[in-house]
Amino acid sequence: MREYYPLLILGAIVGVLSLCFVLAYAMMKNKKEAIGFDRNMKDSEIARRLLHYAKPHVGKFIFVGFVMLFSIAYDIVSPLLVGEIEEMVKDAGFELSRLFTYVGVYAAILLVSLACTYVQSIVLQKTGQKILSAIRQDLFAHIESLSHEQLHQIPVGKLVTRVTNDTNAISMMFTHLLVNLLKNICVILGVLVAMLLLNYELTLMVLCFVPFVVLFTVIFRKFSRRAYRRVKDGTTDINTYLSENLSGVKITQIFNREARKMEDFRDKSLQLGKAKQNQIFVFSVFRPVVYMLYIASVMCLMYLGGKGYIKDTAFMGQVITSGTVVTFYMYISKFFNPIQSLAEQFNFLQSAFASAEKIFTVFDMQPIVVDEPDAIELDEVKGEIEFRDVWFAYVPGEWVLKGVSFHVSARETVAFVGSTGSGKTTILSLICRNYDIQKGQILIDSIDIRHIKISSLRRHFGQMLQDVFLFSGTIRSNILLRKEGVSDEEVMEACRYVNADRFIDKLEGGLDEIVRERGNNFSAGQRQLLSFARTIVHKPAVMILDEATANIDTETEILIQDSLEKMMNIGTMLIVAHRLSTIQHADNIILLSHGEILEQGTHQELLRKKGRYYQLYTLQYHKQQLQSEN
Ligand SMILES: Nc1ncnc2c1ncn2[C@@H]1O[C@H](COP(=O)(O)OP(=O)(O)OP(=O)(O)O)[C@@H](O)[C@H]1O
Ligand SMILES: [Mg+2]
Repeated sequence: MREYYPLLILGAIVGVLSLCFVLAYAMMKNKKEAIGFDRNMKDSEIARRLLHYAKPHVGKFIFVGFVMLFSIAYDIVSPLLVGEIEEMVKDAGFELSRLFTYVGVYAAILLVSLACTYVQSIVLQKTGQKILSAIRQDLFAHIESLSHEQLHQIPVGKLVTRVTNDTNAISMMFTHLLVNLLKNICVILGVLVAMLLLNYELTLMVLCFVPFVVLFTVIFRKFSRRAYRRVKDGTTDINTYLSENLSGVKITQIFNREARKMEDFRDKSLQLGKAKQNQIFVFSVFRPVVYMLYIASVMCLMYLGGKGYIKDTAFMGQVITSGTVVTFYMYISKFFNPIQSLAEQFNFLQSAFASAEKIFTVFDMQPIVVDEPDAIELDEVKGEIEFRDVWFAYVPGEWVLKGVSFHVSARETVAFVGSTGSGKTTILSLICRNYDIQKGQILIDSIDIRHIKISSLRRHFGQMLQDVFLFSGTIRSNILLRKEGVSDEEVMEACRYVNADRFIDKLEGGLDEIVRERGNNFSAGQRQLLSFARTIVHKPAVMILDEATANIDTETEILIQDSLEKMMNIGTMLIVAHRLSTIQHADNIILLSHGEILEQGTHQELLRKKGRYYQLYTLQYHKQQLQSEN
């Protein structure tokens, strides 16, 4: 019995350590809420949806599986070869030529295995990237299809994280994880069978350590899941914060809030840093622990193998040769390594699944405003619009429009006026079906807009919104918005029509002048004129203009006024105006107050009425008089 003391001592040390870990595990269980992923989708459901993306590349995966067999074979065969060589070298009748043959075979297997690994990773990377871009594109297209209401619900930074970081995590799964998982499982099983065939007693000795590895792995997974989750949340948090605050950095500067914002950012950055450190710490504990088990098993092997004469040593009745010891020494590392990687890879897999779930949750957001099954295509629109007792609320119960009814004949110009928050912008966005109304009907050419395909409906509208959005690119790309078959002359003609040519001509690049993000190298008035040109080029039947409240210099105001008057002749025009002078020639002026129509009629009719419009007009008129006197 005494001869197995070293073994017993080792076992005891490992036992105590595992006990410590069991205790730690029990403590973790109490904090389960903080640890568990709040996953709602089943793994099988996620796998099914991911496989859908992998399906077109199934041939490549089969090829990789085939190539992988070679590297698995190398892992299993090479220790046997080295063992053989060791035996042979010790032999009395040792021949150098035989040694060369063996070494040659070993080198050949190694080379083939390396080549296979190379081919395998190239094919996988390519396939992974293809799958990744397919998911990314689908996701982007889906986000584009979401309704305004849904888009308001998710912060932009979160969406950016979904399209970038989360899709990356999924691509890792296709390029590394799945194949390595499979390979590691095969290697573990293969090595186990080979060890059993070689010497079952030593195999049993090695297997004694497996329960501990499994135990540590389970605990490691618990810890690392939590660490992963923190890193992920931290990344999303920072992305969200960045995307919002970088867009608003000018406001931050104007209000001298840099230090405050920096503090917030530092907190978030430190939090992410801590989460990363925590993650590294978890790994840095796990790896040495498994390594310790590996060393312990190697020591046992050496002890048993080295006892007495190496040759013909018996352990529990079976003979151990020096070759067996060498082969086992190699097998043990080939056995422990994949177990350790498996644990880590399962974690990556979990995190990839979590990312996939987040992505699929976005996919599952069904656009609220959708085409009816039998929605019709509108080829031509005359431009007649009618609101019939329309009730609408952004938040259930809080009515923004309360029974609004009006009629606009084709090619008429109708203006909406009213105090801020009275529902003017809301009316315009309802016509384009950015939101669906709760009660009543909106009709275009006497057809309920819910019976018209959304894309076909919006094609006939030219929207010029309150805050003009220019994309980074050129003036041309911003006017065309990828509309094809429009010549430069036509673009310039549109610009001339709306008086945008005056400032474009002065620019060095003309139509090719660079537009920076959100068009911040142009003035508000210039942006407005560009949005007019954009609308004219797209030749809509109905033009919708939400006039900017921003102050525009008098010269540009005159230009805008002039181009508006010209545009009124093109088709139906709905216009929200803050300067009442803009809309004096409108066919109908609708005055809104708290979501209800208070007055309507032409400029003259409303003035004669001496009601709210009259008050507003005289107020603005006097203000203008005062300004011009100053
Ligand atoms: N996306 C939204 N979610 C919830 N409420 C909203 C939303 N957009 C607007 N509202 C609310 O609806 C009401 C009407 O807003 P709307 O934008 O139509 O006003 P407006 O008449 O265009 O004002 P302004 O002259 O300032 O542009 C406001 O009380 C506003 O708070
Ligand atoms: Mg508005």
